[in-house]
Amino acid sequence: MLLAFMVLVPCLVWLAYDYQQHQLPGACGTKSVTEAYDFSNSDPEGKSLFMTNCAACHNMIKDATGPALMGILNGRDSSFLNSFLRKRRRLKKDEAMLEHEKMYAPTKCMEFPMLTREQVRKLERYIRDYQIPAITKR
Ligand code: HEC
Repeated sequence: MLLAFMVLVPCLVWLAYDYQQHQLPGACGTKSVTEAYDFSNSDPEGKSLFMTNCAACHNMIKDATGPALMGILNGRDSSFLNSFLRKRRRLKKDEAMLEHEKMYAPTKCMEFPMLTREQVRKLERYIRDYQIPAITKR
């Protein structure tokens, strides 16, 4: 049972992610976005944490199941993401948070008590450093 669960969950996450990537507008309508854009970022580990844990619901540049993450940490201090993901109940809700909750209700962001502080720091770096990728292929 546990094994089935361990196999099923990553499969579902992958499927959802794949689906979402194909929802993005492809350049010239012919290439998928993954081919058309360079998603490279300074920290590959941050990116891979994002892909594994967040990409099923979030896109960096486009609202999806959850809001686009690019710029979402602007104006928020460095403890926000850690509290939001790992101990949300203790976080005092700011305006943007209330607005997002209302906009996306009843869906809520998943909580990630299993991520370490260090992993959240890497995710945060990835989100803060993210820039709209240049088109690299035609
Ligand atoms: C199951 C879908 C889902 C997953 C997985 C998910 N999120 Fe979310 N996220 C949402 C939804 C829906 C919202 C908007 C509602 C809310 O704020 O709870 C959201 C909101 C957010 C916000 C905005 C908070 C605010 O109030 O402005 C941030 C930041 C965020 N998510 C980061 C992440 C990160 C980082 C990950 C991966 C570690 C992640 N999310 C994984 C669905 C998800």
